[in-house]
Amino acid sequence: MKNSLQHLAIIMDGNGRWATNRGLARNKGHEEGALTVRRVTEYCANHDTIETLTLYAFSTENWNRPAIEVKFIMALIDRYLQSELDIYMSRNVRFETIGDVSKFSKSLIKRIEITKETTKNNNKLTQILALNYGGRNEIVRAVNSLIEAKMEVNEPNIGEALDTPYKDIDLAIRTSGEHRISNFLLWQLSYSELVFTDTLWPDFSNDELSQIIDIYQKKNRRFGGL
Ligand code: IPE
Ligand code: IPE
Ligand code: MG
Repeated sequence: MKNSLQHLAIIMDGNGRWATNRGLARNKGHEEGALTVRRVTEYCANHDTIETLTLYAFSTENWNRPAIEVKFIMALIDRYLQSELDIYMSRNVRFETIGDVSKFSKSLIKRIEITKETTKNNNKLTQILALNYGGRNEIVRAVNSLIEAKMEVNEPNIGEALDTPYKDIDLAIRTSGEHRISNFLLWQLSYSELVFTDTLWPDFSNDELSQIIDIYQKKNRRFGGL
Protein backbone atom coordinates (compact mmCIF):
# COMPACT_ATOMS: atom_id res chain seq x y z
CA MET A 1 0.00 0.00 0.00
CA LYS A 2 1.20 3.49 -0.82
CA ASN A 3 1.91 5.95 1.99
CA SER A 4 -0.57 8.76 1.96
CA LEU A 5 0.90 12.26 2.06
CA GLN A 6 -1.10 14.74 4.09
CA HIS A 7 1.44 17.09 5.57
CA LEU A 8 4.45 18.21 3.55
CA ALA A 9 7.08 20.53 5.02
CA ILE A 10 9.91 22.25 3.17
CA ILE A 11 13.06 24.03 4.30
CA MET A 12 13.38 26.44 1.40
CA ASP A 13 17.14 26.98 1.29
CA GLY A 14 19.61 28.25 -1.30
CA ASN A 15 18.14 31.56 -2.48
CA GLY A 16 21.33 33.47 -1.73
CA ARG A 17 23.61 30.98 -3.49
CA TRP A 18 21.29 30.88 -6.49
CA ALA A 19 21.73 34.65 -6.88
CA THR A 20 25.47 34.71 -6.10
CA ASN A 21 26.07 31.97 -8.71
CA ARG A 22 24.57 34.35 -11.27
CA GLY A 23 26.48 37.42 -10.12
CA LEU A 24 23.26 38.88 -8.70
CA ALA A 25 22.49 40.39 -5.30
CA ARG A 26 21.18 37.86 -2.73
CA ASN A 27 17.85 39.67 -2.71
CA LYS A 28 17.21 38.56 -6.29
CA GLY A 29 17.40 35.00 -5.03
CA HIS A 30 14.73 35.70 -2.43
CA GLU A 31 12.49 37.22 -5.12
CA GLU A 32 12.98 34.20 -7.34
CA GLY A 33 12.34 31.94 -4.35
CA ALA A 34 8.96 33.59 -3.82
CA LEU A 35 7.98 32.44 -7.32
CA THR A 36 8.86 28.88 -6.36
CA VAL A 37 6.63 29.22 -3.29
CA ARG A 38 3.74 30.12 -5.58
CA ARG A 39 4.46 27.21 -7.96
CA VAL A 40 4.81 24.62 -5.21
CA THR A 41 1.68 25.89 -3.44
CA GLU A 42 -0.31 25.50 -6.66
CA TYR A 43 1.02 21.98 -7.07
CA CYS A 44 -0.01 21.06 -3.53
CA ALA A 45 -3.45 22.68 -3.93
CA ASN A 46 -4.00 20.42 -6.96
CA HIS A 47 -2.70 17.29 -5.23
CA ASP A 48 -5.24 14.65 -4.14
CA THR A 49 -4.07 14.02 -0.58
CA ILE A 50 -1.91 16.94 0.59
CA GLU A 51 -3.84 18.95 3.17
CA THR A 52 -1.08 21.05 4.67
CA LEU A 53 2.10 22.60 3.27
CA THR A 54 4.43 24.10 5.87
CA LEU A 55 7.22 26.30 4.50
CA TYR A 56 10.20 27.58 6.48
CA ALA A 57 10.49 31.21 5.44
CA PHE A 58 12.31 32.96 8.32
CA SER A 59 13.98 31.37 11.33
CA THR A 60 14.56 32.78 14.82
CA GLU A 61 18.27 32.77 13.84
CA ASN A 62 17.78 34.65 10.56
CA TRP A 63 17.73 37.94 12.54
CA ASN A 64 21.51 37.48 12.68
CA ARG A 65 21.80 38.39 9.00
CA PRO A 66 22.74 41.91 7.88
CA ALA A 67 19.90 44.33 8.70
CA ILE A 68 19.47 45.23 5.05
CA GLU A 69 18.77 41.61 4.06
CA VAL A 70 16.34 41.15 6.97
CA LYS A 71 14.53 44.32 5.91
CA PHE A 72 14.31 43.10 2.34
CA ILE A 73 12.88 39.73 3.38
CA MET A 74 10.24 41.43 5.58
CA ALA A 75 9.19 43.67 2.69
CA LEU A 76 9.12 40.67 0.35
CA ILE A 77 6.84 38.71 2.69
CA ASP A 78 4.49 41.70 2.78
CA ARG A 79 4.52 42.04 -1.02
CA TYR A 80 4.06 38.30 -1.47
CA LEU A 81 1.02 38.15 0.79
CA GLN A 82 -0.51 41.14 -0.94
CA SER A 83 -0.07 39.74 -4.44
CA GLU A 84 -1.02 36.22 -3.39
CA LEU A 85 -4.44 36.94 -1.92
CA ASP A 86 -6.28 36.45 -5.23
CA ILE A 87 -4.46 33.16 -5.77
CA TYR A 88 -5.30 31.93 -2.25
CA MET A 89 -8.94 32.70 -2.95
CA SER A 90 -9.11 31.23 -6.45
CA ARG A 91 -7.22 28.05 -5.43
CA ASN A 92 -9.17 27.66 -2.17
CA VAL A 93 -6.00 27.92 -0.03
CA ARG A 94 -6.12 28.91 3.64
CA PHE A 95 -3.15 30.89 4.93
CA GLU A 96 -1.71 30.27 8.39
CA THR A 97 1.55 30.97 10.21
CA ILE A 98 3.67 29.40 12.91
CA GLY A 99 6.36 31.19 14.90
CA ASP A 100 6.32 34.37 16.93
CA VAL A 101 5.22 37.10 14.53
CA SER A 102 4.81 39.61 17.37
CA LYS A 103 8.42 40.68 16.65
CA PHE A 104 7.46 41.93 13.17
CA SER A 105 6.45 45.46 12.22
CA LYS A 106 2.86 46.54 12.90
CA SER A 107 2.11 46.78 9.19
CA LEU A 108 3.38 43.26 8.46
CA ILE A 109 1.45 41.86 11.43
CA LYS A 110 -1.65 43.51 10.02
CA ARG A 111 -1.03 42.05 6.56
CA ILE A 112 -0.64 38.58 8.09
CA GLU A 113 -3.87 38.98 10.10
CA ILE A 114 -5.85 40.21 7.08
CA THR A 115 -4.60 37.33 4.93
CA LYS A 116 -5.50 34.77 7.61
CA GLU A 117 -8.93 36.30 8.15
CA THR A 118 -9.76 36.56 4.43
CA THR A 119 -8.73 32.98 3.68
CA LYS A 120 -9.98 31.29 6.86
CA ASN A 121 -12.86 29.40 5.20
CA ASN A 122 -10.78 28.04 2.31
CA ASN A 123 -10.32 24.30 2.64
CA LYS A 124 -8.48 22.67 -0.27
CA LEU A 125 -5.01 23.29 1.20
CA THR A 126 -3.58 25.06 4.24
CA GLN A 127 -0.34 26.85 3.49
CA ILE A 128 1.57 27.55 6.70
CA LEU A 129 4.49 29.96 6.59
CA ALA A 130 6.99 29.53 9.41
CA LEU A 131 7.87 33.13 10.28
CA ASN A 132 10.30 34.01 13.07
CA TYR A 133 10.01 30.31 13.74
CA GLY A 134 12.33 28.11 15.78
CA GLY A 135 11.52 24.59 16.95
CA ARG A 136 13.09 25.22 20.37
CA ASN A 137 11.26 28.51 20.78
CA GLU A 138 7.97 26.81 19.87
CA ILE A 139 8.46 24.02 22.44
CA VAL A 140 9.41 26.50 25.18
CA ARG A 141 6.35 28.64 24.47
CA ALA A 142 4.12 25.54 24.46
CA VAL A 143 5.44 24.22 27.79
CA ASN A 144 5.13 27.67 29.39
CA SER A 145 1.51 27.92 28.25
CA LEU A 146 0.78 24.55 29.93
CA ILE A 147 2.46 25.65 33.15
CA GLU A 148 0.48 28.88 33.11
CA ALA A 149 -2.77 26.95 32.60
CA LYS A 150 -1.73 24.52 35.37
CA MET A 151 -1.96 21.62 32.92
CA GLU A 152 0.08 18.43 33.01
CA VAL A 153 3.21 18.49 30.84
CA ASN A 154 2.78 15.35 28.74
CA GLU A 155 3.10 14.49 25.04
CA PRO A 156 -0.53 15.03 23.98
CA ASN A 157 -0.72 18.34 25.87
CA ILE A 158 2.56 19.63 24.45
CA GLY A 159 1.41 18.53 20.98
CA GLU A 160 -1.81 20.52 21.39
CA ALA A 161 -0.05 23.59 22.76
CA LEU A 162 2.39 23.87 19.84
CA ASP A 163 1.86 26.41 17.06
CA THR A 164 1.09 23.41 14.85
CA PRO A 165 -1.72 21.47 16.52
CA TYR A 166 -2.07 19.88 13.10
CA LYS A 167 -0.81 16.48 12.09
CA ASP A 168 2.80 15.37 12.32
CA ILE A 169 4.89 15.92 9.22
CA ASP A 170 4.81 13.01 6.75
CA LEU A 171 7.55 14.22 4.45
CA ALA A 172 10.12 16.99 4.92
CA ILE A 173 12.33 18.25 2.13
CA ARG A 174 15.38 20.51 2.37
CA THR A 175 16.80 22.08 -0.76
CA SER A 176 20.34 23.42 -1.37
CA GLY A 177 22.44 20.41 -0.37
CA GLU A 178 22.66 21.11 3.37
CA HIS A 179 21.86 18.07 5.48
CA ARG A 180 20.52 19.70 8.60
CA ILE A 181 17.24 20.72 10.23
CA SER A 182 18.26 24.25 11.32
CA ASN A 183 15.74 24.35 14.20
CA PHE A 184 12.71 23.48 12.04
CA LEU A 185 9.74 21.59 13.57
CA LEU A 186 11.88 19.64 16.05
CA TRP A 187 8.87 18.00 17.72
CA GLN A 188 6.81 17.30 14.60
CA LEU A 189 9.65 15.72 12.58
CA SER A 190 10.05 12.73 14.95
CA TYR A 191 8.97 10.13 12.38
CA SER A 192 8.95 12.13 9.16
CA GLU A 193 10.60 10.92 6.00
CA LEU A 194 13.49 13.31 5.28
CA VAL A 195 14.68 14.15 1.79
CA PHE A 196 17.68 16.37 1.01
CA THR A 197 18.21 17.60 -2.54
CA ASP A 198 21.10 19.63 -3.96
CA THR A 199 18.72 21.78 -6.00
CA LEU A 200 18.68 25.42 -4.89
CA TRP A 201 15.19 26.60 -3.89
CA PRO A 202 14.60 28.95 -6.87
CA ASP A 203 15.36 26.01 -9.21
CA PHE A 204 13.16 23.51 -7.37
CA SER A 205 10.59 22.29 -9.89
CA ASN A 206 7.22 20.65 -9.50
CA ASP A 207 8.63 17.71 -11.50
CA GLU A 208 11.29 17.15 -8.85
CA LEU A 209 8.67 17.45 -6.11
CA SER A 210 6.52 14.92 -7.89
CA GLN A 211 9.47 12.46 -8.11
CA ILE A 212 10.23 12.91 -4.40
CA ILE A 213 6.58 12.21 -3.54
CA ASP A 214 6.60 9.05 -5.70
CA ILE A 215 9.61 7.71 -3.77
CA TYR A 216 8.03 8.70 -0.43
CA GLN A 217 4.87 6.77 -1.26
CA LYS A 218 6.88 3.53 -1.59
CA LYS A 219 8.83 3.88 1.70
CA ASN A 220 8.31 1.40 4.52
CA ARG A 221 7.31 3.60 7.47
CA ARG A 222 7.54 1.52 10.64
CA PHE A 223 7.15 4.06 13.48
CA GLY A 224 9.25 1.83 15.70
CA GLY A 225 7.22 -1.28 14.98
CA LEU A 226 8.06 -4.13 12.62
C1 IPE B 1 16.72 30.61 2.25
O1 IPE B 1 17.78 30.96 1.43
C2 IPE B 1 15.86 31.79 2.65
C3 IPE B 1 16.00 32.21 4.04
C4 IPE B 1 16.68 31.61 4.96
C5 IPE B 1 15.32 33.45 4.42
P1 IPE B 1 19.15 31.52 2.02
O2 IPE B 1 19.04 33.01 2.10
O3 IPE B 1 19.49 30.85 3.28
O4 IPE B 1 20.15 31.13 0.86
P2 IPE B 1 21.63 30.56 1.05
O5 IPE B 1 21.53 29.38 1.95
O6 IPE B 1 22.45 31.67 1.64
O7 IPE B 1 22.05 30.20 -0.33
C1 IPE C 1 17.01 27.65 7.28
O1 IPE C 1 17.94 28.12 6.36
C2 IPE C 1 15.95 28.68 7.50
C3 IPE C 1 15.05 28.90 6.39
C4 IPE C 1 15.03 28.25 5.26
C5 IPE C 1 14.08 29.95 6.60
P1 IPE C 1 19.28 28.85 6.83
O2 IPE C 1 20.03 29.20 5.60
O3 IPE C 1 18.94 29.97 7.75
O4 IPE C 1 20.01 27.72 7.67
P2 IPE C 1 21.55 27.46 7.95
O5 IPE C 1 22.12 28.74 8.46
O6 IPE C 1 22.16 27.07 6.63
O7 IPE C 1 21.59 26.34 8.93
MG1 MG D 1 20.57 29.22 3.73
